[in-house]
Amino acid sequence: MTVSIVGTGYVGLTTGALLAAAGNKVYCIDVDSKKIETIKKGRSHFYEPWLDKLISEAIKSKKLIPTTRYRDAIPQSEIAIICVGTPSKGDGSVDLSYIYSAGTSIQKYMIDDLVIVQKSTVPVGTGRRLERILKNGAGNKKFHVVSCPEFLAEGSAVFDTLNMDRVVVGGDSEMAKQKIIRLLKSIDEFSKKIDTKKFTKYSKIYKNKIVFHNETPFKDRILSVGLESAELIKVTANAFLTTKISFANSIARICDQTGADILEVMEGVGRDERIGKSFLYAGLGWGGGCFPKDTAGLIYHADEVGFDFKILKAVVDLNNSQVLYVLRKIHRILGADLEGKKITVLGLSFKPGTSDVRISPSIRLVNNLVRKSATVSVYDPKALQEAKADIDGSVYYAKGIADALKKTDLAILATDWPELVDLDFKKLKRVFKKPNLLDARNKWDKEQVVKLGYKYFGVGR
Ligand SMILES: NC(=O)c1ccc[n+]([C@@H]2O[C@H](COP(=O)([O-])OP(=O)(O)OC[C@H]3O[C@@H](n4cnc5c(N)ncnc54)[C@H](O)[C@@H]3O)[C@@H](O)[C@H]2O)c1
Repeated sequence: MTVSIVGTGYVGLTTGALLAAAGNKVYCIDVDSKKIETIKKGRSHFYEPWLDKLISEAIKSKKLIPTTRYRDAIPQSEIAIICVGTPSKGDGSVDLSYIYSAGTSIQKYMIDDLVIVQKSTVPVGTGRRLERILKNGAGNKKFHVVSCPEFLAEGSAVFDTLNMDRVVVGGDSEMAKQKIIRLLKSIDEFSKKIDTKKFTKYSKIYKNKIVFHNETPFKDRILSVGLESAELIKVTANAFLTTKISFANSIARICDQTGADILEVMEGVGRDERIGKSFLYAGLGWGGGCFPKDTAGLIYHADEVGFDFKILKAVVDLNNSQVLYVLRKIHRILGADLEGKKITVLGLSFKPGTSDVRISPSIRLVNNLVRKSATVSVYDPKALQEAKADIDGSVYYAKGIADALKKTDLAILATDWPELVDLDFKKLKRVFKKPNLLDARNKWDKEQVVKLGYKYFGVGR
């Protein structure tokens, strides 16, 4: 098929590159000409494992065509997929101006019967509003709006898109739904052909899996629903995941007071199939470009329809206090006065596997430490450059792990990149001034480091 992707961020560029790899002709439209120029050179403008390789091949084969001009792309396209940002406004509501602006630009050049797929995460009701806006200006042209929310996670975006655990399609037109299903099926077909041996180096990031193909038949992963339901599925899923994390962080505080170990507790809890083990990780809290804005958006929208979403408000409050909770632990380790104390923060991106630092708890921690006059040294495998704009005040940007840890009083694991989890603690011990470890992601091997003579502190263990 020939398709247009509107917005070349984490969602748009990953989807576009894989659709191109699967043999479709894909126009990638973005209003940001710098991003388009980078993609034209066969690269991504952000770090995501395996994405550069896919883009460079797709640019060479001319299956991926980056452009800033809607008029070069939309008239040729059977499907236009909106993947623009939906940021939070100050009051928690969602800024939908990029969606409506993309919609009206598509409308200007669309052919009859265009399928407009909404992949951005939006409050329920946005698709209907988009339909109304486009109907008012469409003249005689027919179009179909389908909601097909995206579930990929940064750091494993390519893997998640190849594996698609579910394909949710919402809308009124069966023909339009079938069209987007057929398009996404091409990615599933492509995933069967991948030689997994070539990709072992991605396996650590990709949840230790190197099988890119989901064995469940594609048709069994499709969920065809109404437009509103599709929109609400996505925000509900994100709100539920934040609830699981904040729940684990609450139990961790009880563990800290009682001697229970949060890892043991959640292992026991998660073995109940009704609960499941994933996302019961206590640590520094959740952040990123999605969870904070999607929970805030759902709370705001619930208020608008007359429901006071108290559970979710508590989830957000708990998360807002999590960095401060970890800060109190730092004081307990190093004392009330942090001036002159050297603290190393390992990991700056909001999660491993990405250079994304949007609402990163690690950076919030760094800024708090700087405000407390600590001498802060930071390191991240991929996000050092991106973090600079968000870090207030002066910190030392280390060139490597040993450099970051030199003469430190305390090392903190703030983002659990595999290379920061699997440290050579035996070798590194001599560079520490004081062998204090604060495992703010509960990923270091407590028994091993204690045996090596470190003092270990976790969150809830
Ligand atoms: N990042 C994720 O992990 C993820 C996962 C699932 C869903 N989502 C959702 O998908 C959407 C996109 O997220 P993202 O992280 O890819 O965003 P992003 O900010 O990385 O990218 C959005 C892109 O859209 C471009 N853009 C804005 N207005 C435009 C317009 N009118 N025409 C063309 N391009 C335009 C921007 O320049 C930017 O490059 C959001 O709604 C987000 O909540 C994100």
